[in-house]
Amino acid sequence: MELELSAEERSMLAGGFGPGVRKAMEIVVALGRVYGALRLVPVGSVQVAGVSYRNLGEAGLEFLREWADQSARVCVPTTLNPAGMDLRAWRELGFSERFARRQLSVIEAYQRLGVRATCTCTPYLVGNVPHKGAHVAWAESSAVSYANSVLGARTNREGGPSALAAGITGRTAAYGLHLDENRRALLRVVVRCPVRTLSDFGALGYLVGKAARNRVPYFVGLEVGAGLPLSYSDAALKALGAAMAASGAVPLYHVAGVTPEADRPDVLAPDHETLVVDDLQPAYAALNSDVHGNRIDLVWCGCPHASLEEIAEVVRLLAGRRVKTPLWITTARETREQARAEGLVAAVEDSGGRVVADMCVVVAPMQELGFRTLATPSAKGATYVPSHTGLQVRYGTVEECIEAAVTGVWSG
Ligand code: F3S
Repeated sequence: MELELSAEERSMLAGGFGPGVRKAMEIVVALGRVYGALRLVPVGSVQVAGVSYRNLGEAGLEFLREWADQSARVCVPTTLNPAGMDLRAWRELGFSERFARRQLSVIEAYQRLGVRATCTCTPYLVGNVPHKGAHVAWAESSAVSYANSVLGARTNREGGPSALAAGITGRTAAYGLHLDENRRALLRVVVRCPVRTLSDFGALGYLVGKAARNRVPYFVGLEVGAGLPLSYSDAALKALGAAMAASGAVPLYHVAGVTPEADRPDVLAPDHETLVVDDLQPAYAALNSDVHGNRIDLVWCGCPHASLEEIAEVVRLLAGRRVKTPLWITTARETREQARAEGLVAAVEDSGGRVVADMCVVVAPMQELGFRTLATPSAKGATYVPSHTGLQVRYGTVEECIEAAVTGVWSG
């Protein structure tokens, strides 16, 4: 059986909608053929990754500009992943003029394509919230995990160009996680140890991601929200999914009694295997670099981008104390605006910290800023920071990270 296209889709492919749409449809169709899709499905929204100039370089910027010159425009709501710097406060944070100019050109190219410059990996916190069962085309592994698992939407883990192509055509190929049969769990995960803090959820995700090997996990015995403030449940799921995405490219998971597809009668495939997790310490050990000394140059919270509740929690832990080590909380600009309205940005700044918008440390030119060691409560951040930025990492709870910011040393 071959991929079947509608008359409109065939016309897009033949250039009837212009060269930019033809290029996009060629990408969508090529992927569909590679993965054996039988049809395309309309997408309700798109999340595009590949934003930092550090990763894109001149070639990537040229690619985007060329597509925009061909009059390609997205036709569904399309949001954008974090950039390599705060688009407004880059100078105060120490980013170079040269990098800033190129980064702003990338954003401009995306805007010409009709993409909303949200610059966040939590599009679901700034209005891009697909409903259960909706087909979407999202890039950004942690957002893909959240969309599939917590919202019950359907997306494969798109790459930057394929997500953009889906935005321009309004279609994606129906394969992988768009199909019921691929959303069943092949790994039953029995959790037998306490999972209390956000970093515990990250540690659990790190271990399960390592063991999953492309299988969808189904958690039993995992209490989400127990021991945490209620509003932290979403943050816990966000941390769990992001960690699994980072350590094992897991794009979907189910949690019994919690996530929207977990009660499907056939959610667990008959040939599933079982994994028992009774100790999170191996994850804490693996996620801490072999750092000499306890000095920390930067404390980073907000990976994935912080929600309002997570920013409020940092303010609570700071308790008005001054930090000795730079503290950055990364978040969406829209979330930052809400935090500012609630006095949270002022509270963080009064303590000497920063609520940084638009960016992700992992894709930023961090070594140019002189940082060598970083502490974070994010398992995804701790997984990627050493290989992507060259910085060494301390991984621990939000409390331990804030104490490190206040005292200037790691004592976790
Ligand atoms: Fe987001 Fe960057 Fe973390 S994209 S999930 S802040 S590694």
